[in-house]
Amino acid sequence: MPEVDNKESKQFYTDVPQKTEGFFLKGSNSLDWGMKNRLARIFNPDSGKTVMLAFDHGYFQGPTTGLERVDISILPLVPYADTLMLTRGILRSVIPPSATNSVVLRSSGGPSMLKELSNEQIAVDIEDAIRLNVAAITCQVFIGGEYETQSVLNMTRLVDTGTRYGIPTLAVTAVGKDMVRDARYFRLATRICAELGAHYVKTYFIEEGFETVAASCPVPIVIAGGKKIPELDALKMAYNAIQQGAAGVDMGRNIFQSESPTSMIQAVRSVVHSNETPEKAYELYHTLKNEITPN
Ligand code: R5P
Repeated sequence: MPEVDNKESKQFYTDVPQKTEGFFLKGSNSLDWGMKNRLARIFNPDSGKTVMLAFDHGYFQGPTTGLERVDISILPLVPYADTLMLTRGILRSVIPPSATNSVVLRSSGGPSMLKELSNEQIAVDIEDAIRLNVAAITCQVFIGGEYETQSVLNMTRLVDTGTRYGIPTLAVTAVGKDMVRDARYFRLATRICAELGAHYVKTYFIEEGFETVAASCPVPIVIAGGKKIPELDALKMAYNAIQQGAAGVDMGRNIFQSESPTSMIQAVRSVVHSNETPEKAYELYHTLKNEITPN
């Protein structure tokens, strides 16, 4: 039993109004505490941005180049990522539970790369997501795809079940091979995801009109890296996306397929969190790379 607290000189600061802070993330102020807390583990509250390391590609294409041995290629990158985006299989089998990064769990699946990819279903039970202490759950949304409605309803089911437990949903806009990747398409796709409840949306950067995609989406947007391009170009893409309203990157191949993945992820961080120019970030990339393997 604590001693009786009968001090007369308590400090109630009756003249100081209690602080009521707004939440730092776009469109997220009305969410509940647990939801906000999880988002604050994905997006750094100081910069408002995130570097998500995406290595969930195996869920439909098996051992992708650079991910043949996740234990060897990805574990050295983990300390530099804010968030890991991966499947529960890789999380349980390879990632040490002592890693403190937030986790965004790939929660959809079904077709392999040999079949129609938009024919996905939800492939993780919310109880397992909770058991794994994830910060968000995610699935693809194929706007314009063959199974468009099914993929949209996968997302809304994740939103509904996640909301029950304070777990946000990331909607990933997936573009079919033959579809035009322009601002009009991405405004449509990202806005539909946000309107139907996604807490944040992953999309692709486009050279023309990306700022209109970011502006018309009422929740944060992060960009996927896409297929491997030269390091300086990838840094330019990340820089332009951030300057035009993205809240971060969810980058995979342009990091883990880089000649020096640990140098690349640190260069990407400098662009995302410190607004470093692509040229300066590229210098950093080279400096770090040379420290690892001097010429
Ligand atoms: C697709 O397999 C996943 O959504 C990836 O997480 C996404 O495409 C990001 O990876 P990358 O930067 O390699 O495109």
